[in-house]
Amino acid sequence: MIQADLIVEGAAELLTLSPSSNRPRRGDEMQDLGIIRQGALAARRGKIVWLGPASDLLTSVKPLAFSRVIDAYGKTVLPGFVDPHTHLVFAGSRENEFAMRIKGKSYMEIAAAGGGINATVAATRTASKADLQAQARKALDRMLAMGTTTAEAKSGYGLELDAELKMLEVIRTLHEEGPVALVPTFMGAHEVPPEYRQDPEAYVQLVVNRMLPEVSRRKLARFCDVFCEAGVFSVEQSERILRAAQALGLEPRVHADELTDLGGAAMAARVNARTADHLLFASDEGIRAMASAGVIAVLLPGTAYFLHLGRYARARDMIAAGVPVALATDFNPGSCMTESMPLILSIACTQMRMLPAEAITAATINAAWAIGEEDCAGSLEVGKQADLLILDAPNHEHLCYHFGVNLVQTVVKNGKVVAERGQRVR
Ligand code: NIG
Ligand code: FE
Repeated sequence: MIQADLIVEGAAELLTLSPSSNRPRRGDEMQDLGIIRQGALAARRGKIVWLGPASDLLTSVKPLAFSRVIDAYGKTVLPGFVDPHTHLVFAGSRENEFAMRIKGKSYMEIAAAGGGINATVAATRTASKADLQAQARKALDRMLAMGTTTAEAKSGYGLELDAELKMLEVIRTLHEEGPVALVPTFMGAHEVPPEYRQDPEAYVQLVVNRMLPEVSRRKLARFCDVFCEAGVFSVEQSERILRAAQALGLEPRVHADELTDLGGAAMAARVNARTADHLLFASDEGIRAMASAGVIAVLLPGTAYFLHLGRYARARDMIAAGVPVALATDFNPGSCMTESMPLILSIACTQMRMLPAEAITAATINAAWAIGEEDCAGSLEVGKQADLLILDAPNHEHLCYHFGVNLVQTVVKNGKVVAERGQRVR
């Protein structure tokens, strides 16, 4: 008999997202959720020790005296969401830009007029670590209540060495505090700061020669990201930054082809990036290059929605081409102010025509691959972290179909109940 300190019984659907493989899911594999109907799961010391049909539970698992039993009868159980692209740490907010866009100004026009990323940079540079932490903690509590148990978090609102290090240290502290596990990304090349407007190339040099070596030496980031966009960093500059990062042990990822077709997707393939993100304007050639290099497309339909860009990334073409697709919030104060993965999944279905099963794969196992967490998160399998959600819904389709509400009833992280009915449990 297997001993367990946590048991989840009687799920109408237990979405395992298994069997695991040595690469993210692509093509038709994205529709396979590995569903066990009338399923049960057991965990001990934070790890999954057993899962299978509820009818086998009694003969296979022995609950320890202090074990917790969660009744999931008639409900859906799935892995905790992995949000593989967030700008979690920032000071202030930019609701003024929201109204300006409604009146017809574009994201880039607002940035050129003194808003945009550099407005948040000004606020973040002067904020204390304690203030940044307090603001991010609130966002993390919201994420958790809506089912996110692991997330990526970027720097990129400092744009000077000390402020970038400050952001990455805040991310490290928040990760250590838990319960949401955070994977840090250095994004010194998020924008050209105002003091380098006349000489952007000098800023690229600063990122390459000063910031990257220091971030690497202090082991503050696993990934390096770049905003490769017209008027921000060119393909050539982005590639140079990412190759320098690679040489220092940071894995590349790219904000690519978000607002124009600059060739960011093809560049991501050239440098063997783990992911290329956004991709609204990615060309056929870029998509083909990503498929053959195995670059994961991290799609952020919340941003297209929030900026009312009038188009979405071509998820169907990417899936057909064999590109593994993941979904993320892009949570940030300028282009997508939401912590909600369920909302992103719903937009992915209605606007990019992803099937609910594909969207769930993209928000769990493929999202875990997108941030290198595939060995511990993203699926329910023996040996993996017991990070799971109980949805107040009889099947997985409700997650995308019933939108604008929180169906996540219970959130379990490392075998502990950490949120219930929208509230953080401490
Ligand atoms: O992913 N595109 C660049 N960076 C963010 C926006 C950040 C901001 O506006 O503050 C994005 O959309
Ligand atoms: Fe982003």
